[in-house]
Amino acid sequence: METEIKSLFKGFSKLKRSERFQKLVEIGALDSSDVSFLKNGGIKDFEMADNFIENSIGYFQIPLGVATNFTIDGVDYVIPMAVEETSIIAAASKTARWISECGVITTEVIGENIIGQVQIARVKDFVKLKSVVEAKKQQWIAELNQVVAQGMFARGGGVRDIVVRQIPRPDGDVMAILHIHLNPCDAMGANIINQVCEYITGPIEEATGETVTMRILSNLVDTKLTKAKVEMRGIEPKIGEAIQEASLFGEIDSYRAATNNKGVLNGIDPILIATGNDWRAVEAGVHAYAARDGQYRSITKWRFADGVLTGEFLAPLIVGTVGGVTTLHPTAKMAMKMMKIENANQLSRICASVGLVQNLGALRALTSEGIIEGHMKLHIKNLAMGAGASEQESPTLHKLLEQVLKAKKRISLSDAIQMLKNIRSVKEPVRETAKHVTTPS
Ligand code: MEV
Repeated sequence: METEIKSLFKGFSKLKRSERFQKLVEIGALDSSDVSFLKNGGIKDFEMADNFIENSIGYFQIPLGVATNFTIDGVDYVIPMAVEETSIIAAASKTARWISECGVITTEVIGENIIGQVQIARVKDFVKLKSVVEAKKQQWIAELNQVVAQGMFARGGGVRDIVVRQIPRPDGDVMAILHIHLNPCDAMGANIINQVCEYITGPIEEATGETVTMRILSNLVDTKLTKAKVEMRGIEPKIGEAIQEASLFGEIDSYRAATNNKGVLNGIDPILIATGNDWRAVEAGVHAYAARDGQYRSITKWRFADGVLTGEFLAPLIVGTVGGVTTLHPTAKMAMKMMKIENANQLSRICASVGLVQNLGALRALTSEGIIEGHMKLHIKNLAMGAGASEQESPTLHKLLEQVLKAKKRISLSDAIQMLKNIRSVKEPVRETAKHVTTPS
């Protein structure tokens, strides 16, 4: 369905930067102060870098773009993505447009707690430990919510449960692990769950006579999962069946699953980076969840029947919208505002949707024309730059690289370097054609 935002976004990729700003202001994703901030090169405040990390010497800048055409749970979004890889934003936007023509994206968050782990490396008496924890846990939960997680508790979150697990050790003894479940509300929750685990160490040791050996959060948060679903109608069987086969490949083969999931994360990581979220934590959680049954599998699944293509993403996507970099970094704050983010679940639902859509775009391309053509066309600019072409040489080099791409279906930096040498060695480069140029493979 063509919404107002979608029609405003028509031809967005062809616009000049200033025109893109104008459109984004028109639809309310940016205001004039955001535009001046971006035009002036973004964050300049070195003090902030010094507060974020140690030994800081400056900022590393990567491009920030926007993915268009996304309607998630009936709401139109402008999605900021910070990413260096060519064609990710183009593929996401193009695939989102395809979905909007014949389908919908819906999402849900299942569960609300994150997990902290307290390890007792070599438990003396597991049965006693378990019964003491069971007897004490309500008292401990109340104390933790009063002393450590009081703010979160007041906002409706806080510590919810303590679960005891045992794992046989390779040497025949038993390791015990306590899982502390905590609802972090809109925070990512890393600091608070780690504080909770540290605080509870003393009471556990005192009450059980066991020795706690370490404590830290787990990134495998199977207690809070984000689901995104795409459903498209009227899909040609040839396309639908090919996408289903590509999906099956990743569901049963770990080598393919790794690449499939990398493609999914192509859609997720750039949003996490743009919003100042911890993408390493999310990556770790997604990969661990992908291997939950002992085999690493794709984190998405596509099925086709009777013209209906259905896709699903389900994994932990623990993000925060309060605290940390998210609320301090001006670009992250702006990114949140662009999506009108109200809570952490909304952000994780957007991430899941973009990951799933990115995956669909990749599977469609891989089962039809392949990704090289689209990808490399966009990459030509980078190759020309990488080869060292001047502003005057670039248009000729672009044309030649496009011709080689068409003829050979592939292209590399060494092609670009060789062609630039050839351009420089002839007097009238404009007349040069790919046929006359030797191209290394
Ligand atoms: C490239 O960045 C991502 C893909 O390899 C993903 C996939 O194979 O599904 C195209």
